[in-house]
Amino acid sequence: MKILITGAAGLVGRALVEHCLASHDEVLSYDHRALDIADADQVEAEITEKTPDAVINCAAWTDVDGCETDPKRAQDVNTLGPANLARACNKVNAVLVTISTDYVFDGRKEGFYTQRDSPRPESVYGRSKLEGERSVQLEHARAVIVRTGFVFGPAGKNFLSTIVERARRGEEIKAIGDVCGTPTYARHLAVRLRELAQLDLPGIFHVVNSGDGASYEEFARLALDLAECHGANLQVVTMSSLNRPAPRPRNSKLRCLLSAALGLAPLPTWQEGLKEFINPNVAKDTENSGIGA
Ligand SMILES: NC(=O)c1ccc[n+]([C@@H]2O[C@H](COP(=O)([O-])OP(=O)(O)OC[C@H]3O[C@@H](n4cnc5c(N)ncnc54)[C@H](OP(=O)(O)O)[C@@H]3O)[C@@H](O)[C@H]2O)c1
Repeated sequence: MKILITGAAGLVGRALVEHCLASHDEVLSYDHRALDIADADQVEAEITEKTPDAVINCAAWTDVDGCETDPKRAQDVNTLGPANLARACNKVNAVLVTISTDYVFDGRKEGFYTQRDSPRPESVYGRSKLEGERSVQLEHARAVIVRTGFVFGPAGKNFLSTIVERARRGEEIKAIGDVCGTPTYARHLAVRLRELAQLDLPGIFHVVNSGDGASYEEFARLALDLAECHGANLQVVTMSSLNRPAPRPRNSKLRCLLSAALGLAPLPTWQEGLKEFINPNVAKDTENSGIGA
């Protein structure tokens, strides 16, 4: 497949480029500097010139608190950006896979959010991503929307990806105990993103690692255990004590109604993903683990 990947220097983008190269795709990868998805003319020129079979959009403005204070930028990148890609994909009849978020939900539900739950985002970030989903569907029928959440992996700068290195530096780790989601290893997500591009079945998919989900605290405790950081300074805090500008869903666990119905194998558990992330040398190769079958 000839795959064009945007946001290629980010947490998910890097994992996806690596996986597609290993799968012998022709990969056209663009970091932010090489392609600004908010620039409609640049997006159209690049996609109509390169005529990829698939575009996988990993670009987004993911600074949730930043979005709260700059809604215009959030809309430019997270809403207009995917819409620009969708219009250009429509011109060259390429499948578009674009990533959305668990933050489209308000977090008040007990249990897992599926595609039957109505999104009700409470943050600017969540609203900009939901509007991105909707504008993509208006612009291009051949579009796959992938909602995910709590992503961790190499090159990640978020809490989940950096706990162990911070503990090793002797820093205090503040782990939120009253917010939970479904942790998702970027490499496992990458495998499924490529698979969905190949399947070319339009719709909204929830793609997360299997299992019951976890709070940040539960995730942090297992990460520190696996990395043998037994003396780590772990402080459990509540979300409200952090006084962050943007509201976050208290529960954003996701489950997919479509994947199993289509015969897609469940992704490994997040605990397996975390083991692989922390001990890459002893982990089995994702490519051979059956999730890409
Ligand atoms: N990480 C999570 O826990 C999580 C959870 C749910 C959903 N998601 C979604 O997953 C996708 C990938 O996120 P990620 O975790 O990989 O985030 P990330 O590490 O922040 O990567 C996003 C990339 O997009 C780039 N970017 C920002 N604005 C851009 C623009 N206008 N044009 C082109 N590129 C631009 C960023 O480059 P610069 O940094 O140079 O600006 C960055 O490299 C996003 O759609 C995100 O909403 C992530």
